[in-house]
Amino acid sequence: MVVSDSNELIMRRSFCTRLPWLAALSALLSLTLWVFPAPSVSAQAPAARAEVTPELQALLRQIKQVDTGRLAVSEEDGRFLRVLAATSRAKRALEIGSASGYSAIWIGLGLRETGGRLITVEYDPSRAREAAENVRLAGLSDIVQVVHGDGFREIPKLAGTFDFVFLDAWKKDYKRFLDMLLPRLDTGGVFLAHNVVNKGKDMPDFLDAIQRNPNLLTAIVTPSGEGISISMKRR
Ligand SMILES: C[S@@+](CC[C@H](N)C(=O)[O-])C[C@H]1O[C@@H](n2cnc3c(N)ncnc32)[C@H](O)[C@@H]1O
Repeated sequence: MVVSDSNELIMRRSFCTRLPWLAALSALLSLTLWVFPAPSVSAQAPAARAEVTPELQALLRQIKQVDTGRLAVSEEDGRFLRVLAATSRAKRALEIGSASGYSAIWIGLGLRETGGRLITVEYDPSRAREAAENVRLAGLSDIVQVVHGDGFREIPKLAGTFDFVFLDAWKKDYKRFLDMLLPRLDTGGVFLAHNVVNKGKDMPDFLDAIQRNPNLLTAIVTPSGEGISISMKRR
């Protein structure tokens, strides 16, 4: 039944008149909400904020401020990468596309929980220098190593396999990087790629490959709308 606004108001008023304690309770509740407003849903709980020191928060903000090309992942995606590196118990992580080191710092914080290491590869020489400096300022030089050069040339020079790969280079190269890195991903390891939602049209071959490959368990999540694919290698 549709009740008009005025009818509804009259009904509520007469209800409260008949039950004065209910009206008093309602007024008290309104006052409580006014004095103690509910926290906003997007606000980080104090415990989550405390894990990042004020100095590190300032550094992360500073990296974002000078990132005029908006290359760095969002803070939500960074936090997500940190948790994923930690929960997957990653030990040998690789990032392609460091830019100024913003995502590398978040992954490095996750690896601090696992005793793991990250190698991050950056093509642009001045960005690679910036990334190395930011990693140093973040106190993560013992965990994160920045390698300057083209991933297609530098990664074949690296020894061993990886259990965590984060791909954030040029989008049209995603499928080539997947083909290059899947044989070097451990069974149970995860391959993550950024911008799979907002730039998905630039990587149809990659999206098709991660979703059709029977050796991969893939999910796409959107902590902040740009989209991250997570593919676990089954065997
Ligand atoms: C979107 S930005 C990376 C942002 C970074 N992951 C972050 O969140 O802070 C992409 C970077 O990938 C680098 N890049 C692109 N192709 C590359 C390649 N083949 N090898 C290494 N770096 C590459 C670019 O120079 C650029 O700095």
